[in-house]
Amino acid sequence: MNRIDTLLAAMTLEEKIGQLTMATAGYAITGPVLGGDVTDGIKAGTIGSLLNVWGAEASRTIQALAVENSRLKVPLFFGFDVVHGHRTVFPIPLAEAAAFDPVLWEETARASAEEAAADGLHMTFAPMIDIARDPRWGRIAEGPGEDPWVGARMAEAKVRGFQGADLADITRVCATAKHFCGYGAAIAGRDYASAEISLQTLHEVYLPPFVAAVKAGVAAVMPAFHDIGGLPLTAHIPLLRDWLRGEMGFEGVLVSDYNAIAELIKHGVAGTLAEAAALALNAGVDIDMMATAYSRGLPEALERGLTDMAHIDASVRRVLVLKERLGLFDDPYARCAPRVEGDRARRLLARKAASRSVVLLSNPAKILPLPSRLHRLAVVGPLAEARADMRGPWSAAGLPDDPVSVVEGLRDLLPADSIAFAPGIDLLGKDLSGEEAALDLCRAADAVVLCLGEAATMSGEANCRADPGLPGQQRAFAEKVFDLGVPVIVVLFSGRPLILPWLIERADAVLAAWFPGCEAGPAIAEVLLGLSDPGGRLPVSWPRHVGQVPLFFGARSGGRPENPEDHYTSKYMDMPNSPQFAFGHGLSYGDFALEALTVGPDEVSADGVIDVAVSLINKGGRPGLGCVFLFIHDPVASVARPLLELKGVLRAEVEAGGRCELRWSLPVADLAFLGADLRPRIEAGEIEIAVGRSADPEGLLRRSVRIVTPRHQG
Ligand code: BGC
Repeated sequence: MNRIDTLLAAMTLEEKIGQLTMATAGYAITGPVLGGDVTDGIKAGTIGSLLNVWGAEASRTIQALAVENSRLKVPLFFGFDVVHGHRTVFPIPLAEAAAFDPVLWEETARASAEEAAADGLHMTFAPMIDIARDPRWGRIAEGPGEDPWVGARMAEAKVRGFQGADLADITRVCATAKHFCGYGAAIAGRDYASAEISLQTLHEVYLPPFVAAVKAGVAAVMPAFHDIGGLPLTAHIPLLRDWLRGEMGFEGVLVSDYNAIAELIKHGVAGTLAEAAALALNAGVDIDMMATAYSRGLPEALERGLTDMAHIDASVRRVLVLKERLGLFDDPYARCAPRVEGDRARRLLARKAASRSVVLLSNPAKILPLPSRLHRLAVVGPLAEARADMRGPWSAAGLPDDPVSVVEGLRDLLPADSIAFAPGIDLLGKDLSGEEAALDLCRAADAVVLCLGEAATMSGEANCRADPGLPGQQRAFAEKVFDLGVPVIVVLFSGRPLILPWLIERADAVLAAWFPGCEAGPAIAEVLLGLSDPGGRLPVSWPRHVGQVPLFFGARSGGRPENPEDHYTSKYMDMPNSPQFAFGHGLSYGDFALEALTVGPDEVSADGVIDVAVSLINKGGRPGLGCVFLFIHDPVASVARPLLELKGVLRAEVEAGGRCELRWSLPVADLAFLGADLRPRIEAGEIEIAVGRSADPEGLLRRSVRIVTPRHQG
C-alpha cells in the first residue's frame, strides 16, 4: 500500500472529515493567532488545513501541532489570499490586465509565490479569473476584466507563475482558480446575487479562463458563492462534477468559498447542515472552508444516507494527494524559511507592473508628459499622499505604510521647492477645512496634479456601488480646481472604471491608475514626467453612464442594431450606446497608427492557419509602447456571433518615427464556436479579420477570408 492508502485505511471518520476541514486563524498585531478550539482540533486531527496563517515562525509552530501531536501526524497546509502580491503588493489584477502582458502576469505571480512560500504558505486563493462586465460589482477589481480571451491568458500565466513546474518546489505555492463560475454576472452588480447566464455565454465567456487554468495544471478550484438559475455553485453537480471533473478531467481539489457550504441553507436548497454538507460533497467539493458544515453535518448525512463513505474517501484522497504533491509528507516545514532575498528586484517589478498598468485616458492638448523644468506643480486631492490605499482590496501581508504615495514619488524626481502639496479635502469629503489652502496652491501653480478616486475598501468583496462615481465632495472640489483655469492632470485611483463624463470633459489629462500597488508613487511620477510611457490599455469598456451597464465590446448585433436615424432600433433616447472609452483604449506618448493590413490566404480550410500582418507606425516625436488587438467577426453563422471576438494582442516598443511589423498566425481551429447543440463547430463562409488599437469599430482595419471546409464535432 502506498502512503495515502495506508493513511486512509488508518483514519477514523472524524479524522477523514478533519482532512476536509479548513479552519481560520485570527489576527493579532503580532501575527496569526489560533483559538483554543482550533489548536485542539489540529491535535485531534479534526482540522486538515488553515487559512490566514502566514509568517515562517507562526506556520512552523502551528505545523508542529499537527505533525508532533496528532495521532496520524498528517501535516497541515496553509492557504491565504495572495491575490496581487504578498509582502510586495503589485497592482490589482484589473490593473495588471491592462498591461496585456502574459510575461509580466507570470513574473508577478512568481514573485508573490516566492514571498508567500517563504512565509510558510502552501496555497493561494488566486487567480481570480471571473469575467466582469459591470463596474458596480466591487470584485471587478480582482479579475481580468470583460474579455474571455484575456481571462484565459491571464489564468494560465498566473497558474504557471504561482505553481511553476512542480508543486514540490518550495519557492512556489498551489494556485486556486476562483470563483467557479459566472460570479461576475451577479444580477444588478450586487455581490453574492444570483446570475442568469445562457449556456452559450457560460461556455463562451465565463468558462474559458477556467479551461485555461485547468489546462495549465491548476491544483485547486473554488466554487463561487452565488447561484446560477437557482443552483448554487457550491452544490452544482452539472458544472462541478459533470463538466469540471468529468469533461475537463480536473483531478485537483475543490475548496469551498468561506462558509459557502453552510450557506446552502440560506440559499434555500438545504434545510439542515447535514443536507448542505451532503449536497456539496456529492457535487465534489472536497474542503469546507470555515470548518462548520462538514464537521457538524457529514456524520448525520452519512447516517441518513444522504451521502456515502465513497464520496468522503474520494475527497480525502484528493486532499492527501495535494499534500503529497506539495512535498508536505517529506518535509512539513520546508516552506517555513527565513525571509526571502531579492526585495529590491520585486519592488522594481512592482514599479514596472504599475507603469504598464496605468491607462492614459485623455490628453487632448498633450499637456503630458510634464516638462521636467516646471516652475511650480500643485499636487492636491485626497489620494495624493495616500499610501495604504495604493495597495487595493487584497493587501495580503503588505504593510499599510509600505507603498510610496504620488507626492513622495514626485518629490523624488523633481526639485523639492517645485512641488506644493495639500490634500484639500478628505476622501469621503466630510472635512472641507483644507479646501481653500489647496485652491491657493493651485492658483499659484503652472499645473495641478489632482489625485481623486475611491478608497481601497470601496472595491473588492461586498463593495458594490450603484453609483460608481467619485465619493463625497470630490466632484465639488474638482470643479473648483477646474474653474481656476490652471491646467489640471487628474490621476484617478479606483478598483473599477469610474463613471465621470464631466471630469473627462474638463480635465486636461486623465490617468486611470487603478490601485497600482506599493510602487504607486514612483511609477506615476515617471509616467507624468515622461520617463516611462503609460503602458496600460483598458481591459474593460469604460461606460458613460451607469444605465449602460453591462457594457462590453463582445455584444451581438441583434435584428435592429443601433441606428440614430431609425427610432425602432436598439439604443437609448438620451445617449449613444458606445462607451466613453472602448476596451483597449489607452494613449501613449508615441503617436501610433496602423496601416497595410494583410490577411491570407483568401481561402482556408478548417485545419489551416490565417496569417495576419500589420504595420504599427509611431508618427510622433517620442518613443512609445504600442498595443494592437486582433479581432474576428463571423457575419453569418448558425448561432449569431458577437460583433467582435478578441483572438490576439501584440505589444511593441517603437522609436519616434519608427515602424514595426506585427504578425499573427491564427489557427482556424481558434475560430470554432458553439452551435445550437453546444458543440464546437467551424462553419464555411466569410470571416472578417479586424485589427485595431482598441475595440472602437471606427479605428479597425478589416479584411475577409473564406473558410472552405467546415468542421462540426459530435
Ligand atoms: C472570498 C474568497 C476568498 C475567501 C478567503 C471569501 O470571502 O470570496 O475570494 O478567497 O474569502 O479569504
